[in-house]
Amino acid sequence: MSLDVVLFQIFPYVAVTIALVESIRRYRQKSFSYSSLSSQFLESDQLFVGSVPWHYGILLVLTGHLVAFLFPQQALAWNSVPVRLYILEITALAGGLVVFIGLINLVIRRLGRARIRAVTSPMDVILLAVLLIQVSLGVYIAMNLRWGSSWYAAVLVPYLRSLFVLQPDLSLLTLMPWMVKLHVLGAFIFLALLPFSRLVHLLVVPWQYLWRPPQVVIWNRDPKRSTIR
Ligand code: HEM
Repeated sequence: MSLDVVLFQIFPYVAVTIALVESIRRYRQKSFSYSSLSSQFLESDQLFVGSVPWHYGILLVLTGHLVAFLFPQQALAWNSVPVRLYILEITALAGGLVVFIGLINLVIRRLGRARIRAVTSPMDVILLAVLLIQVSLGVYIAMNLRWGSSWYAAVLVPYLRSLFVLQPDLSLLTLMPWMVKLHVLGAFIFLALLPFSRLVHLLVVPWQYLWRPPQVVIWNRDPKRSTIR
């Protein structure tokens, strides 16, 4: 059995199984741990310069990945006009760089400040390392292996779809450079880690915040008697 078969045919299913089983187990047994455990009250300025670019950037980049996955023919048709290809590629690269800058700021905040380190688990560190490698590979690919949005639609999407229909077809993927293969592998490692980490909050995004009326939180206390300042 070749390494490609282990990494790109067997491991994806192992990763999905781990993600599903552990997400359900954690939700049923430790539902209060289903969050990102906010550390906003610690070094919040630094959190802002990391968290805001990270979240907006990753939303843009992963939406791009998803749209091309769902509509590969339309992505290729869009890219058939050079100016549209340049717009897409430049937007994707800009998004990737914003994500990278945000992530670097989050890493500096988490590892560089003693107060944040005190509330950082080994899993937080592993997760940040995996994300940093994954995002660096993405940006490297976008900068060095030209017109990724086209070959993603033509080569990687058929591979991903073949996994979905339980008929894995590695014929095109095995020909890709190792940087691309590592980026694909990184996505499955990320998936397997997700339910063990603070990123589990992705599965319980509080969508209702988008339509519920705004709430004003008022502290009702006597400042003279309270010990909280
Ligand atoms: C955890 C999941 C993933 C993350 C966080 C991630 C992140 C990124 C980032 C930050 C970039 C650079 C910006 C861009 O060009 O869009 C990128 C590019 C890219 N990613 Fe991913 N990615 C993930 C999963 C995947 C998967 C599963 C595939 C394919 C099977 C993939 C294929 C690509 C390709 C081909 C590019 C280059 C696009 C271009 O040059 O226009 N990514 N990724």
